[in-house]
Amino acid sequence: MIDDDLEELEEISDYNSIVDLKTENTLFSDSDFSSSDENYIITLPHLKLMTNLEYSQIPAVILDPKLNILWQNSSYKDLFLQEKRDLPINLVFDFSPYLTPEKLGIIYKNITDEKTGFSYKGRVESKHRKRSRIIANLILTPYFTQKIPNINIDIPPIYVGLFDNLTKENRDFFEGTFSTLLEASKLKDNDTGNHIKRIGEYSRVLAEQLFDKPAYYEVNTDFIENIFIFAPMHDVGKIGTPDYILTKPGYLTKEEWIIMKEHPKSGALILSAYQDPMAAHIANFHHEKWNGNGYPYGFSGLLIPLAARIVAIADVYDALRMKRSYKEPFTHKKAMEIITKDSGSHFDPDLIEIFVKINSEFDTIYKKLKDS
Ligand SMILES: [Fe+2]
Ligand SMILES: [Fe+2]
Repeated sequence: MIDDDLEELEEISDYNSIVDLKTENTLFSDSDFSSSDENYIITLPHLKLMTNLEYSQIPAVILDPKLNILWQNSSYKDLFLQEKRDLPINLVFDFSPYLTPEKLGIIYKNITDEKTGFSYKGRVESKHRKRSRIIANLILTPYFTQKIPNINIDIPPIYVGLFDNLTKENRDFFEGTFSTLLEASKLKDNDTGNHIKRIGEYSRVLAEQLFDKPAYYEVNTDFIENIFIFAPMHDVGKIGTPDYILTKPGYLTKEEWIIMKEHPKSGALILSAYQDPMAAHIANFHHEKWNGNGYPYGFSGLLIPLAARIVAIADVYDALRMKRSYKEPFTHKKAMEIITKDSGSHFDPDLIEIFVKINSEFDTIYKKLKDS
């Protein structure tokens, strides 16, 4: 912006004057506002808008028409757990890979179309290895400043992006749905409530050990949170297994076993409605074995989803520690021995290595959530 222009502008009413944000404003530091366009001009109304948004509880950004984030408020930074970063940065960066070129095209079409009031409303998701997935409703609305009389400067519109964070509601909804299923499945089994709680805890502890290990790229914060919720539902398919089989003392007949072995498939069917396939994977594959001798499919090795390989260890460990009608409870040491002996046959040997390293945590969980 040239100096002559500035002088002339200062004579116009305060409201419409253009200020150089970097020199005249103390609320925002240099790095708080940037532009992809060297000539991008910030007017006082823009500044007032930023001042209002800065302390809002609602995560908010100011965008240029190409969806570059020019400015972000504190709530937005908190939501994304951001370190300091240089702006502008395109919105795609924060919502990749969810914001595909197609979805961006739809947003762009809406915010440049008079018929939609130059606005957009829609759901966005953001994934990152080191934090939980964020699900939000994005509301984009244009912010036009008045054209400044007598001065031939075209001020491009900016857009205010507000994010209604739905992550918690979404999670609460699914946890609520699943807790009902869990209660229903407890009725069909002689496992205690604490057994299923412990399975979630063991699985989470194992998964946490895989975080940051390159071989386990799929283990991010979401994975760890989800396995904690879904592992307890591994036997939800037993809703479909007749009581006389579930409660039968002693050995099952060949026919009864065939029916019993259906429960993973039933569980997967029940849980398949959930958008994250992990829930169904755990139910479907928790009785598969590393060497292919498990059921219902006889899958082996890495064909068995990771979450199910983790839950298999957790489930067997806990079953060994529990008192059952047909057995006394084993000590932690004995359970450890039995599980490590089955490394490479029943269980994934790499996971058993990690299990051995942190085995005392399993004992701690068992004792903490012991059946009374
Ligand atoms: Fe099972
Ligand atoms: Fe179980």
